Amino acid sequence: MRFRFPEPKDGVRLWEIARDSQVLDLNSSYAYVLWCRDFRESSVVAEVDGRVAGFVTGFFRPQDPLTLFVWQVAVDSDYRGMKIAHGMLDWLLDQPPVRRATHLETTVSPDNKASIAMFTSLARTRNTSITRSDLFPPDLFPDSHEPEDLYRIGEFEPR
Ligand SMILES: CC(C)(COP(=O)(O)OP(=O)(O)OC[C@H]1O[C@@H](n2cnc3c(N)ncnc32)[C@H](O)[C@@H]1OP(=O)(O)O)[C@@H](O)C(=O)NCCC(=O)NCCS
Repeated sequence: MRFRFPEPKDGVRLWEIARDSQVLDLNSSYAYVLWCRDFRESSVVAEVDGRVAGFVTGFFRPQDPLTLFVWQVAVDSDYRGMKIAHGMLDWLLDQPPVRRATHLETTVSPDNKASIAMFTSLARTRNTSITRSDLFPPDLFPDSHEPEDLYRIGEFEPR
């Protein structure tokens, strides 16, 4: 297994993994390809035997440039429970373009126990705290959508 920044050619795998997760909101294929160009240094893919098996898409918040916002995390169902998601986030936080982050934010729906467990585990292994607050209630979305709760992790210890 290896971790690396994504390339535009990875966009199709990100789109497939997001589609197959049946949990994530599926963005257009173009959005994933563009992300792999313009936000590659705040994102990561995991390769197993040369094939992308998981990804994290992230960006630094323009209003809060020391906070890495994780937009989507997904691991192909064949590879779950192998610490790939945790490993991707750990790898990303240690890369020079991301090491400046003092905090990580993400949003999670209340019923996504795997995701909440994964971010809680990340906070624990980084010796820092994780807090939850309300962010986007369902009535903000035009379709049927769970609330998106904000999880904030940090402050990270300098490495
Ligand atoms: C959430 C997801 C990315 C986790 O990926 P993963 O590679 O299986 O997770 P990891 O193996 O790195 O696990 C990290 C921690 O989360 C815990 N965890 C992972 N899946 C879990 C589950 N289904 N139930 C309970 N805990 C779980 C692990 O036990 C581990 O905790 P530990 O360090 O205390 O042992 C994966 O389940 C997935 O792709 N889900 C569909 C997409 C999704 O929901 N993305 C998140 C949206 S915000």
